[in-house]
Amino acid sequence: MTPHSTPDPCVLVIFGASGDLTHRKLIPAMYELSRGGSHGELPEPFAIIGVSRTPMTDQQFRDKMRDSAQQFAASFDPAGWEAFAKCLHYHPGDGASIDAYPGLIEKIKAVGGARRLNKSGGMPNLLFYLSVSPHLYEPIIACIGSAGLVEEGKRWCSLNPSETPWQRIIVEKPFGTDLHSARSLNMALGRVFEEEAVYRIDHYLGKELVQNSLVMRFANTIFEPVWNRSYVDHVQVTAIETLGVGSRAANFYDTAGALRDMVQSHLLQVLALIAIEPPSEYEAAAIMREKIKLFNSAKTVSVENAIHAAAFGRYGASASEPAYVEENGVDPARGTETYAAMRVEFDNWRWAGVPFYLRSGKKLAAKVTEVVIQFKRPPINLFQRFGNAVDRNPGNRITINIAPTEGIELLVQGKVPGAGLRIDSADLALDYLDRFGGEKVEAYGPLILDAMRGDRTLYKHRDEVEKSWRICQPLLESEALRASIETYPPGSWGPASADALLARDGRAWHNPK
Ligand code: BG6
Repeated sequence: MTPHSTPDPCVLVIFGASGDLTHRKLIPAMYELSRGGSHGELPEPFAIIGVSRTPMTDQQFRDKMRDSAQQFAASFDPAGWEAFAKCLHYHPGDGASIDAYPGLIEKIKAVGGARRLNKSGGMPNLLFYLSVSPHLYEPIIACIGSAGLVEEGKRWCSLNPSETPWQRIIVEKPFGTDLHSARSLNMALGRVFEEEAVYRIDHYLGKELVQNSLVMRFANTIFEPVWNRSYVDHVQVTAIETLGVGSRAANFYDTAGALRDMVQSHLLQVLALIAIEPPSEYEAAAIMREKIKLFNSAKTVSVENAIHAAAFGRYGASASEPAYVEENGVDPARGTETYAAMRVEFDNWRWAGVPFYLRSGKKLAAKVTEVVIQFKRPPINLFQRFGNAVDRNPGNRITINIAPTEGIELLVQGKVPGAGLRIDSADLALDYLDRFGGEKVEAYGPLILDAMRGDRTLYKHRDEVEKSWRICQPLLESEALRASIETYPPGSWGPASADALLARDGRAWHNPK
């Protein structure tokens, strides 16, 4: 990775151009980038070709995308939009059918030529984005291969890589539905693309405070010496939401559930950056290697024991809204969980014996994403004879606030001013926006720019994805766990079984106020 290198000029080919992700995230994110700023700028020249089955002209596509940007970009200005809209193009066709490709290739050549993207008359750099239903991933990848669009071969070791156009692919989550399907998808990708050209996206890795984990740990000296089993009691990773599943139940969620949707993907990635060993350098391959080592050292639970290592729940009805099982498209017999909590341990020298608890759920008391590193209490209570309950106060705690606020808090004990010696807890707090300012942007934009730069630091390697499925697989297979699913009241902190998971270890969830 070259720090802050300019992204390469390219054509971004979005499969699923009339879909929800393109409308809500991708186009607004690209438009935000076109306006420049601290989060990076689009390459120049640049073009987007949207592909989907809906018949549309370029102009109709631009008009539709204008609404998306107006609705979902951080801010909108008509003149800026007009300039950006010139790079938007559309090709109607079924990306999963080879018949769509001769026309698509013509379109790429024409757009590339018009926008000065084709090197010496050949093809431009191509970044494919799979923003379609997951069952279409493998057919589309196969078609891209059969159409001859990927021609670079082993570009990473060629003598003049900058002379030949590149082809890369961004694959959205869900990346498979279990270990078996994730492997199959990896193999489909491997038949067409080099691993170095595959960008498995996880928008949580685009969040500032997730990226800051490595900076906090390795650009400071005071954290790393205590970042281990001698000082850390346990770690909690939480990503909870107040919204329900709504219309997503029918087309995706009911066959996925919280474990697949959030824990296997986002939460294990957040955890990984908290728990990995220092990489040899800040570079994609080195970081990926450490994540793979960490996941390899996860203690796998057996299917029989999964029920003791996890808790599932689903939300009930409120006065005005239906229970999950009453949402459109839900088959109650599937027993899909809208809440999942799990306990993971790593058998390595740093973390042996330290539990990591992960939880995620819908329709809960708050929208919060955070990591809590709970330290052990001091070995003795020096202040006991003053009646101070140091042993009842929490030990030191670092809370990394990822969303909606961004910041870090360190809970310490202090003497309450005044006569006597009374001790109480207080937070040393760093608010990221207060201190560093800046505009919050959609995480997708900077991640896509990284793909245009060839920087996979914030993307996932094939092995990471498979290992994280391996960690979750026994939970997915446990009939006992699924049968234990508990209904929780909307607006609560989730099922009692999740509290019991920690209570069995003498611990409790950190529920932010
Ligand atoms: C998505 C999940 O990946 O992340 C959604 O599919 C979830 O179910 C969303 O709501 C949460 O993202 P964020 O950035 O709002 O925490």
